Amino acid sequence: MRLKTFIYLFTMIYLGSACNHSNEIVFKESENEKFRPEYHFTPQAGWMNDPNGMFYLDGEYHLFYQHYPDSTVWGPMHWGHAVSTDLINWEHLPIALEPDSLGYIFSGSAVVDLINTSGLGTLDNPPIVAIFTYHDPKGEREGKLDFQTQGIAYSLDKGRTWTKYDKNPVLKNPGIKDFRDPKVNIFINERGEESWLMSLAVKDHIEFYSSFDMINWTKLSEFGQGIGAHGGVWECPDLISLKTEKGESKYVLFVSINPGGPQKGSSTQYFIGDFKKGVFTPDDNMIRWLDYGPDNYAGVTWSNLPSSQNRTLFIGWMSNWLYGNQVPTEKWRSAMTIPRNLSLFDVDGTYLIKSSPIQELENTRRETYSINKKEIALPSQAVEIQAYISGEDSFTLSFRNELGEELIVSKEMGLLSVDRSNAGISDFNRDFATIHSAPMSWEAKELQIFLDAHSIEVFVNDGELVMTSILFPNSPWKSLILSENLRNVKIYSLEK
Ligand code: FRU
Repeated sequence: MRLKTFIYLFTMIYLGSACNHSNEIVFKESENEKFRPEYHFTPQAGWMNDPNGMFYLDGEYHLFYQHYPDSTVWGPMHWGHAVSTDLINWEHLPIALEPDSLGYIFSGSAVVDLINTSGLGTLDNPPIVAIFTYHDPKGEREGKLDFQTQGIAYSLDKGRTWTKYDKNPVLKNPGIKDFRDPKVNIFINERGEESWLMSLAVKDHIEFYSSFDMINWTKLSEFGQGIGAHGGVWECPDLISLKTEKGESKYVLFVSINPGGPQKGSSTQYFIGDFKKGVFTPDDNMIRWLDYGPDNYAGVTWSNLPSSQNRTLFIGWMSNWLYGNQVPTEKWRSAMTIPRNLSLFDVDGTYLIKSSPIQELENTRRETYSINKKEIALPSQAVEIQAYISGEDSFTLSFRNELGEELIVSKEMGLLSVDRSNAGISDFNRDFATIHSAPMSWEAKELQIFLDAHSIEVFVNDGELVMTSILFPNSPWKSLILSENLRNVKIYSLEK
């Protein structure tokens, strides 16, 4: 036995028994294939990127996603499909939309057309309408500019099967190369009229269109040139309304950008302001990022949630275009983030988005370990860690395995960091093994960390600051070293 392995095993036995849980913590090996998450959504096989078309209907959450079933690298895009009643256990359904003569099926959204405004269903059986981008690869190859258009499809059987509208596209391209990712939401205008509002990413800005039937669209306005981050192309917008803690309504416009994120590559920025008479006006020109980790991209919100849920549900693609096509998984590529509930909070007069882990995740908790040691053994590769930060506003958590690999989460001098520079396989991309940091000028009081086979999601103060990172340790994290000032530490083993 190598000395390193011996010392490791010895420490593990010691640490396991040192914990105040009555049983020794024995690491439970996963039955999944390597790097396959325990509780994050992944495609069964093949490639996945953006979440698409999420809606809720009759107790089911629908999730569609950019999918190439024939390979683990990006290719001709389809919409993969899954449903869930709890946002954690997903049932895989047949592919919803396949490429056709108008092109690949790029990102978009879906809404439940309750009063059949589109005429594609009936009042008794209202249609669900999906709005997506057609990307015509032939047009692109020929050097044309108008190869992205918007099309619709509808379902009359709770999203199980889809029919493409026979007069697609419903929105033609005016001659701009990047013209995509329609996100449609219900909108009530100043006159109290209900209409559909589409946010569309157009190269370096967002365009808003309105419609009463989702077939005829009228352009309202543009937003974004000269404001916000512009290190890359704008993609996957979403315009939602949220209430402040004081009950004031604000509009929040999410815009994914690639490259040009704060950690290189892809990231999602957002603007807070007002939307009146078809025009979005931001409150300020501050650049805000939804997640300061490198791996949360192209996320949008669910439509048609019952108001009784009183929440705004979000999910993102847990990867980055910098290396998404190269990560070391075999049968499938990429996972989604855990679903999050978005709200607004106020830091010294500035509104920011808080992304909180959804409550349903509590149902995945199996064993609970209350920890009063500073070095502990982990029960499995899927855990949630909770801790309170006492004393000075700094802390460190270091996850280790028997191979000497380490993943460090820390806050020091106003910077929250996730260090994956020595956290496993990284040779697939030279930018991967690095430290990511985020400014956090206000106090960190509590910490929640979700660990899964190839990811870490750090939520400070219930999501006032979030960092999501993927990583590929050669062996799962088996021990955790905590700084002195972390109190009331709890570890939950998670299982679906
Ligand atoms: C974002 C994105 C979208 C596009 C899709 C293609 O990740 O580039 O803009 O619709 O992916 O798969």
